[in-house]
Amino acid sequence: MNYTQDQIIIIDDTPANLHVLSSLLKENGYLVRAFPSGKLALAFMEKFSPSLILLDIKMPNMDGYEVCQNLKANKLTADIPVIFISALDEVMDKIKAFTVGGVDYITKPFQAEEVLARISTHLELSHLKKMLKQENYLQAQQLAEQNRQLQRVNQELEKANQELNEKYDELKQAQLTIIQSEKMSALGNLLANIAHDINNPVGFLSGNIQPALDYVNDLFRLLDLVEKESPNLRAIKEEIEEIDLDYIREDFPKLINSMEVGVKQLQDISISLRTFSRTDTKHPVLYNIHDGIDSTITILKYRLKTHQDYPEINIIKNYAHLPPIDCYAGQLNQVFMNILSNAIDAIEEANKEGARKEIVNQIRIETEFSVDKKQVIIHIADNGIGMSQEVKEKVFEQGFTTKVVGKGTGLGMAIARNIVVEKHKGSLTCNSQLGKGTEFIISLPVSKEK
Ligand SMILES: Nc1ncnc2c1ncn2[C@@H]1O[C@H](COP(=O)(O)OP(=O)(O)O)[C@@H](O)[C@H]1O
Ligand SMILES: [Mg+2]
Repeated sequence: MNYTQDQIIIIDDTPANLHVLSSLLKENGYLVRAFPSGKLALAFMEKFSPSLILLDIKMPNMDGYEVCQNLKANKLTADIPVIFISALDEVMDKIKAFTVGGVDYITKPFQAEEVLARISTHLELSHLKKMLKQENYLQAQQLAEQNRQLQRVNQELEKANQELNEKYDELKQAQLTIIQSEKMSALGNLLANIAHDINNPVGFLSGNIQPALDYVNDLFRLLDLVEKESPNLRAIKEEIEEIDLDYIREDFPKLINSMEVGVKQLQDISISLRTFSRTDTKHPVLYNIHDGIDSTITILKYRLKTHQDYPEINIIKNYAHLPPIDCYAGQLNQVFMNILSNAIDAIEEANKEGARKEIVNQIRIETEFSVDKKQVIIHIADNGIGMSQEVKEKVFEQGFTTKVVGKGTGLGMAIARNIVVEKHKGSLTCNSQLGKGTEFIISLPVSKEK
């Protein structure tokens, strides 16, 4: 192969040599530049960037070895093949020529064919080397590009995965909200209906108690009169004794009184039911938190009384003076319901486990108002079974329950957390000690940021 485009630089201090070599190469189609000294050649090297250099060894000032070392030290010229041409025909010189970076060695006096053959061989080698380098470079670039693409795909995958996770969380959250609102509206409607149904009969019971008492007092007075006006009528006297009229006179007002108490309780329950079942889940209202807690306790009252499994559970209230709170009242009641139900469950469980002896079942409810933080804080603490570290870590997880199927759903605390944290921008935390009891702390901002 003859690379006619190739430019060859010849460096030799002997003009005759320069001339002979130049002519030979030109005749064979090469572009040739000839320099009489290494220094001069080096100065022009980058400008010409030749394909090959023919280099004399023995020259004044700077010999061929030094020129070659200079060439090899420069990144731009390091790859140009250098063929030494010298009359010095000693082994050491040849070895040195190769160690400083030469690719070949031609001994003077030279044969034209030999020079041409060696030049052609090294040009070919050099071109092949360049091609190989180019190919390697291209391959490396392709690899880098593929790598970049892979990274991009990877990033996209990661992003998609993250989005998927977010969607999953949203879905879980939405599911919770649906369950909660469905449960709440079903329960709310039920309670509101019961409250309404109780309210009417209770209304006429309470309205009729006083007239009934008045009527009976009238009848008593009439009896007095009959007794006085007809003292000799034995049958009347006997009947008065028979029915123990004195006792009736004494007992009847008490009886009516207890009926009044009963009716009052029914009214309280009805009010509690209505308070509890406030279904204004969509719009926040100003609400007295204590009303919410009290109505929840009333609804749970049947579970607080002495049971087969446990003695009565005492509720100890310590209420601070609280401002009304801007909140979703129906939802907050659900939170109180979930926490108090769990507290009762925990106490029931502790009683089943036994060894309670001196311990009195109790749930302590404390409220406080932090003026500077504009927060209401509610503590609900029980002295039930308490939680292990493991349970404590999972208590707010959706679906986590330690209770038997049918009793636990594992939704109560997840719903409570959702309502307090997401809906009200408050916080819900828990302290617990296994075997001692559990305390939940709810903090709520007094007004909702819109
Ligand atoms: N007051 C408490 N005392 C002890 N453990 C509790 C208390 N409150 C909640 N837990 C634990 O947290 C779990 C999750 O509660 P919750 O979300 O209400 O679901 P569930 O009551 O249906 O199990 C309960 O199963 C229980 O192990
Ligand atoms: Mg529960």
